[in-house]
Amino acid sequence: MRRKELIKRYIQFFISKGHKEIKNSSLIPENDPTVLFTTAGMHPLVPYLLGQPHALGKRLCNVQRCIRTGDIEEVGDPFHHTFFEMLGNWSLGDYFKKESINFSFEFLTKELKIPKEKISVTCFKGDKDCPKDEESAKIWESLNIKNIKFLPKEDNWWGPAGKTGPCGPDTEIFIDGIEIWNNVFMQYNKNENGNYIPLTQKNVDTGMGVERVISIINNTGDNYLTDCFKPIILLIEKKSEKNYGKNEKDTRTMRIIADHIKAASFIIADGITPGNKEQGYILRRLIRRAVKYSRELGNNFSLSELVEGVYQIYPEYEIISKNKEKIIYEIKEEEEKFLKTLEKGMNLFKKLTENKKEIECKDSFLLYQSYGFPVELIEEECKKRGIIFSKEKFEEECNIHKELSRTATQGKFKSGLADNSEKTTQLHTCSHLLLEALRKVLKDNSIIQKGSNITPDRLRLDFNFDRKLTDEELKEVELLVNTQIEKNLEVTRKEMSLNDAKKEGARGNFEDRYGERVSVYTIGNFSKEICAGPHVKRLGEIKGKFKIIKEESSSAGVRRIKAIIT
Ligand code: SER
Repeated sequence: MRRKELIKRYIQFFISKGHKEIKNSSLIPENDPTVLFTTAGMHPLVPYLLGQPHALGKRLCNVQRCIRTGDIEEVGDPFHHTFFEMLGNWSLGDYFKKESINFSFEFLTKELKIPKEKISVTCFKGDKDCPKDEESAKIWESLNIKNIKFLPKEDNWWGPAGKTGPCGPDTEIFIDGIEIWNNVFMQYNKNENGNYIPLTQKNVDTGMGVERVISIINNTGDNYLTDCFKPIILLIEKKSEKNYGKNEKDTRTMRIIADHIKAASFIIADGITPGNKEQGYILRRLIRRAVKYSRELGNNFSLSELVEGVYQIYPEYEIISKNKEKIIYEIKEEEEKFLKTLEKGMNLFKKLTENKKEIECKDSFLLYQSYGFPVELIEEECKKRGIIFSKEKFEEECNIHKELSRTATQGKFKSGLADNSEKTTQLHTCSHLLLEALRKVLKDNSIIQKGSNITPDRLRLDFNFDRKLTDEELKEVELLVNTQIEKNLEVTRKEMSLNDAKKEGARGNFEDRYGERVSVYTIGNFSKEICAGPHVKRLGEIKGKFKIIKEESSSAGVRRIKAIIT
């Protein structure tokens, strides 16, 4: 079975069970500031898992592109990758354990025809926060599943994805010992103090990895031999004139390159460019690791030549087809930049290790931090020259720095949407006012939102406009927003079909694939937008003055404004 067929069958199955398909969202989360990337299909649904009504109802499903970089070092074996597609179905306060487990069982055994003897499951063992999940185990028993284990929180609990947010016990499904599906019963919200507070509604959040299932169904024993990777592997083979599967070292190298270039392509397609912080840094790291490994294959091609393979696997992703040139450009640029620093770094490396038996920790960290040397490269260069490199000591040094930056990051993302939704909600409502104020002040009705990111501390809005705004214009925009807030206008939400929303003059980025039913938020007679975020009920709930703190270019033809409430 091909990847596309599996996705089609999954969506059709859940639609037949009363679910509505939601869009495959960006890898850069809009509704969940607690994480850098979308790591599961549930991220765009955080507000709805916490109780806000979703315009498409209480049963949803989709296929979602995801990135998990937590075990980037593990990539290289047949099963790990940083980019993957997740099939998911959700109940937002609708069905719970019985239906969820039955749906999964029916899909696996009837649709995919997996013999039930191959299925084993695990359930939550229980602890002080939540009782043992006997209920799920009983449901599995009623389906004649014999292999049931109870495991603690480390294994059978999912979330929150960031520090705070929705979470709960889960039941995991294994085929021949490989985990393929996770049904999470999200009924708690973990707060800043680490307490699990029961949610007003009991939700189901499931996730199944496309690559793993495809590999199991087709019995390949290697995810990289499925159509989720094959076109990139074939290109690497052709360009390097080496064969996949011939020896362990080259095979591993090819997997790393294939995974990293695929992940990098999607991250670029979702609007990120290589940089030194947050998503940009992860992107840089992926490309640089891939470059480092490609040198081992002979380095006689540019990694940007592999983007074609990504496109061949995912032709239905418009973000890839539309941005192909941009992806190729960014990968090439970063590759060239890295090769240049690599040269400088190698000179420094030679100086630092001259007449030495061992490289000092601070020196290896300098190469890593300032010259972008992946740890594998330091290791390899030391080995070549017979110099001792202690990975443990190096990791200790990294941990000290990681701890520092983690503290900084946590400060930054402190109390994400889940916990401090008041602040986020106020800022989110302000971003509607800002967008409309921009249209009015700049007298440009074609302005739409091109991107948004909101933390409890500030809003960030990207919009199409082709020049810098003057100080006067910015002042005028601020004033217009604050005047609306002072008027204490009412914010109302109405559900309607996308067509009716358009007829009513609601604004939205129609390049986004909205569902057939959408939520339209109207603020007095000032603004009307299609939106899915959280909003205040009256503008008087916005406590303070709206203030623009930065206006800059985001990319060609797109400006970026950061604003706060003071
Ligand atoms: N959020 C859960 C997971 O990622 C189920 O999708 O495993």
